Amino acid sequence: MLPFCEPYKIKMIEPLYRSTREQRESWISEARYNIFNLKSDQVFIDFLTDSGMGAMSDRQWAAIMSGDESYAGSRSFYELKDTIRELTGFEYLLPTHQGRAAENVLFSVLVKEGQLVPGNAHFDTTKGHIEFRKAFAVDCTIDEANDTTKPHPFKGNVNISKLESILEQSADRVSFILITATCNTAGGQPVSMDNVRRVRNLADRYGKLLIIDAARFAENAYFIKTREEGYQDQSIKAIVLEMFSLFDGATMSAKKDGIVNIGGFIALKSKEIYQEASMFNILFEGFLTYGGQAGRDMAALAQGLREATEFDYLESRISQVAFLGEKLKSYGIPIQEPFGGHAIFIDALRFFPHIPREEFPGQTLVVELYKAGGIRSAEIGSLMADRDPVTRENRYPALELVRLAIPRRAYTNNHMEYAAATASIVLEASQKIRRGYRLTREAPIMRHFTMELEPVDL
Ligand code: F0G
Repeated sequence: MLPFCEPYKIKMIEPLYRSTREQRESWISEARYNIFNLKSDQVFIDFLTDSGMGAMSDRQWAAIMSGDESYAGSRSFYELKDTIRELTGFEYLLPTHQGRAAENVLFSVLVKEGQLVPGNAHFDTTKGHIEFRKAFAVDCTIDEANDTTKPHPFKGNVNISKLESILEQSADRVSFILITATCNTAGGQPVSMDNVRRVRNLADRYGKLLIIDAARFAENAYFIKTREEGYQDQSIKAIVLEMFSLFDGATMSAKKDGIVNIGGFIALKSKEIYQEASMFNILFEGFLTYGGQAGRDMAALAQGLREATEFDYLESRISQVAFLGEKLKSYGIPIQEPFGGHAIFIDALRFFPHIPREEFPGQTLVVELYKAGGIRSAEIGSLMADRDPVTRENRYPALELVRLAIPRRAYTNNHMEYAAATASIVLEASQKIRRGYRLTREAPIMRHFTMELEPVDL
């Protein structure tokens, strides 16, 4: 069989600056050991996120040129609306400037103080928008997701009995059920169609809405096609349509599977919820036919969504992520398996077992990867988990992960080789790194973006 191969070639390049270790040590110290404070020119390979960092296609750039910038009734809005209707079956569309804006608008309608929003693991902005409204995000991900070594094809699945017991005990407090596909917080792990169907049945039994956080819906569909019984012969677009048919609505960060640099939307079945949300969209985002996007953004997004739901693109995308995973594994780096769709997650508790959790082993690894090779990664662990809103104690999630998120179509497999070699250099020196970091400044929620740290042994 022929190996996978990118179904595109490169037409434009952007130079990267290769710094020295001395430069990077000084820059990360000036950045107070928070990689969000680094300038992008100080980074060699940027695996901070797969969000908004993808390379658009020539067709998307062509769409940019033909975008319609009318305030109301933009042709590009209708192109986007038609594309989303074709892909999802949802009739009602509210464009937003990105995913968290979609959460803000939709949750302004759905979430009230004291309510519960159960689902698989919510993304941090999603949790932030729920907790900001003094409601509670309830994580019902299956237990297998918390063991980085255990094989399971759908680690993003919802634990049905846990969800059922929440509904049994407190149905009146449940605002709606949210499934994030793929599940970013659980490691870019997919959710099976069967699992969504079971959640749908529960939602129907208790009369609850089921919403999808669809940031990586196309990657999720790829995993269904390649791993779930009965879907091998179906097209990605058919799987996507079946998946969305089980939901009442979606929030979407288009910066991921929309392959655009900025953008998002809410798509809904219900006219009533659309009408209620419209008021908040106008208030927070913009008029209903642009909602925080330029016409050209919506035109590029419509094209991006069509490309992201092509099998050949998804195969090369997910194979590149797996290529990095295999390389890291060959160096003995402890990583989460099976590999996620958009990222490889290093298990920092296995990488630095001697660094106490209070000293943030995940962040320690993030800093070391940067110093060693200019790789920018992200801690998905205790710093990101914030403090408990009630007790104000640090929350220590089951996993302390470091995410290497791969932007779509932006890097080559040589970049993957370089990143894996960097991680192996850090692993060789890992016994010499005995202490981690302490916080010197933090915001009340979503502290990881603006926090400042210092080495504990300073
Ligand atoms: N939902 C999921 C599953 C996400 O991964 C993100 C963003 C959002 C919602 C929010 O969307 O950034 O457009 O406002 N995730 C990025 C990441 C930031 O790096 O994983 P946004």
